[in-house]
Amino acid sequence: MKKILVTGGAGFIGSHVVRRFTTQYPEYQIYNLDALTYAGNLENLSDVEQLNNYHFVKGDITDAVFIDQLFQENDFYGVIHLAAESHVDRSISDPLSFVMTNVVGTANLLNAARKAWKDDLGKSDAPRLFYHVSTDEVYGELHDPNDFFLETTKYDPRSPYSASKASSDHFVRAYHATYKLPVVISNCSNNYGPNHFPEKLIPLMIHNIIQNKPLPVYGKGENVRDWLFVEDHARAIDVIFHKGVVGETYNIGGHNEWKNLDLVFLLCKTMDEKLGREAGTSEKLITYVTDRAGHDLRYAIDATKLKNELGWEPSLQFAEGLERTVDWYLANEAWLENVTSGAYQKYYEGMYAAR
Ligand code: NAD
Ligand code: TYD
Repeated sequence: MKKILVTGGAGFIGSHVVRRFTTQYPEYQIYNLDALTYAGNLENLSDVEQLNNYHFVKGDITDAVFIDQLFQENDFYGVIHLAAESHVDRSISDPLSFVMTNVVGTANLLNAARKAWKDDLGKSDAPRLFYHVSTDEVYGELHDPNDFFLETTKYDPRSPYSASKASSDHFVRAYHATYKLPVVISNCSNNYGPNHFPEKLIPLMIHNIIQNKPLPVYGKGENVRDWLFVEDHARAIDVIFHKGVVGETYNIGGHNEWKNLDLVFLLCKTMDEKLGREAGTSEKLITYVTDRAGHDLRYAIDATKLKNELGWEPSLQFAEGLERTVDWYLANEAWLENVTSGAYQKYYEGMYAAR
């Protein structure tokens, strides 16, 4: 039985990774380490918490002593590291918490793995793996519509969030070069799907449409994102964890670029149909608000390497993925209610009231 540590498993993507690994690989013992910040929610895992190969550990990756002890007490075969502060707007109002979690937290995990795995480092069969889950935002922004992010694209982070993720990527590579820690990194485009916290574009718009609240589009809504269904990301992580080459980086993307405004219009149309509202009702809620500072214009991934070398491709068409997402939110209004009560109200006021 191999023990695998998944960090951030109570969050959006992490919960889908935990679900996939616990259900598809009974031979693994999955340890979900999560501090349960505002973004972590054990409700996301209510369907797997009874499984014998699932274990929850509450803890903070910024606590080096605790992390060291966890690695000493458990002989982890692998780490899949997702725990992070993940929202660009929060990184603009509170950059240092991103340095702490994303940079210091990642360094703590790398350091604990280096110490615990010292007898295996440099061995050719690489009996361990530290998998770092990162973002395409480390590459900065694109302007030319013919350009795409490749694994070789120069890093050019432009927000405190992407700078902290870029820094963590550099630490991961440095531990590979310096200590021969067996690592692999993936950089993925924007995810969407069930359990997405409603501070991000798609779930925030779904929530506001349900509530008949204004739909805050930053600037003119011309920024472009490449959207991937979260279960496809979890499947890519599975493929890379099992077949990826140590020391390599893989870009993961949806080949699915949308201008924000077009996406919001599509959501309005879909939701009007689902909610039995007259066509055109929800788009009247669209409100243009002050743009995000340093707002990256376009992200777009070239995932050819992952397709050619490991055979991964997105499985879901966007129309189907978006419909599944909207259906999930409509069927899980209690989940939405729970995560948007309390502290969320204060966040929303602070982020949008004066915009
Ligand atoms: P999320 O914000 O939904 O979840 C993050 C999780 O990490 C939460 O469960 C939170 O409680 C936990 N966490 C935060 N700080 C912690 C700490 N100090 N110690 C332990 N746990 C802590 O994030 P997400 O959207 O699921 O993203 C997961 C990872 O994937 C992140 O590393 C992110 O950079 C990366 N990523 C996200 C996207 C996306 O579109 N969401 C795209 C590409 C890459
Ligand atoms: P977001 O979901 O925060 O992801 P990221 O900034 O990491 O790509 O935002 C996606 C896009 O939507 C981004 O261009 C910012 C824009 N946006 C809005 O227009 N309004 C909003 O309320 C939010 C949260 C985002």
